[in-house]
Amino acid sequence: MVKRTFKLSDGKTVPAIAWGNGTGGLQKSGNRAVLGGQVALEAGIRHLDTAQYYETEAETTAAIKASGIPRGEVFITDKVSSNTIAAEATTRENVRQSVLESLEKLGTKPDLFLIHNPFVPEEGKIAEFWTYLEELVEDGTLGGVSLGFSNFRPQDIDAVLSVARIKPVVNQIEFHPYVYAQVESLLELQSKHGIVTAAYGPLTPILRHPSGGPLKPVLERIGAAHGLDAASVLLLWTIQKGVIAVTSSKNEDNIRKIAALDAAPDLSADEIAQIDAAGKKVHFRHYEEHMTQDYPAPDLPRE
Ligand SMILES: NC(=O)c1ccc[n+]([C@@H]2O[C@H](COP(=O)([O-])OP(=O)(O)OC[C@H]3O[C@@H](n4cnc5c(N)ncnc54)[C@H](OP(=O)(O)O)[C@@H]3O)[C@@H](O)[C@H]2O)c1
Repeated sequence: MVKRTFKLSDGKTVPAIAWGNGTGGLQKSGNRAVLGGQVALEAGIRHLDTAQYYETEAETTAAIKASGIPRGEVFITDKVSSNTIAAEATTRENVRQSVLESLEKLGTKPDLFLIHNPFVPEEGKIAEFWTYLEELVEDGTLGGVSLGFSNFRPQDIDAVLSVARIKPVVNQIEFHPYVYAQVESLLELQSKHGIVTAAYGPLTPILRHPSGGPLKPVLERIGAAHGLDAASVLLLWTIQKGVIAVTSSKNEDNIRKIAALDAAPDLSADEIAQIDAAGKKVHFRHYEEHMTQDYPAPDLPRE
């Protein structure tokens, strides 16, 4: 049983640490995604993140089978992506076909299905797309599956909320201290509507920022005090913000470090505040394809 979990607004419990197979060469990788997922599960992680776009849906369930862990003990997040028939035109039939393809590949229903980004639906048809997903929940095709989205800006969330009979439970976004200033008001909007945030790219400050910036010494100092590396400190910061940490690794040692955070003690409020303060000195986003358009960035330097 994992200890660090969050409650979704529909009552489901979701493990706070997820292992994703959409980056680091795991996407479209066949057996590598199966093996990585198996190692993650054997290390104790109970939440797997996949998407149509990654071409790893079948591998996600294959990893669960290979681990011998019962399907019911693992939380699966899947996403309707733009490389599918749904992108062609947002019609009831196209959305249905796209979802059916996913269910066939997974061989099970996911626990949570997200719209991968606001550009998956045809322009102006986010609300319609949501309604078609709701119909699939209601007719049993996605019975018991929670619905959410990813990379949704406030205007996209408003479009869904204007029609939703089934409330969205999660928005999965790039989230770490270097985008905190930009997304803080988005997080407030989400919390007002009971939408839990999930973070992808949570290790961006140490892996993708050119120098590590002002956070690097802060993370290293806090890590040294706890016997943790900077990556582990960032993941704890994420979870302690009430955000699901969707990370990844192909390296068994790193996977074990990620899994061990489930039982690690919390950072102190003062340590969290130090990370917040250092993070808000910089605006740095790695994944630029979704949340840059019509979503203003704060006037902060990159370094
Ligand atoms: N919704 C979306 O649009 C979207 C976009 C991007 C990603 N995602 C999802 O989120 C998942 C994670 O995304 P991400 O890769 O950007 O997450 P990330 O957590 O920022 O980075 C993961 C990388 O961190 C490295 N790592 C892990 N532990 C480490 C440690 N202790 N020290 C140093 N490096 C460490 C891993 O490399 P090693 O293999 O070398 O350990 C791995 O490649 C994806 O796989 C995907 O499922 C979703």
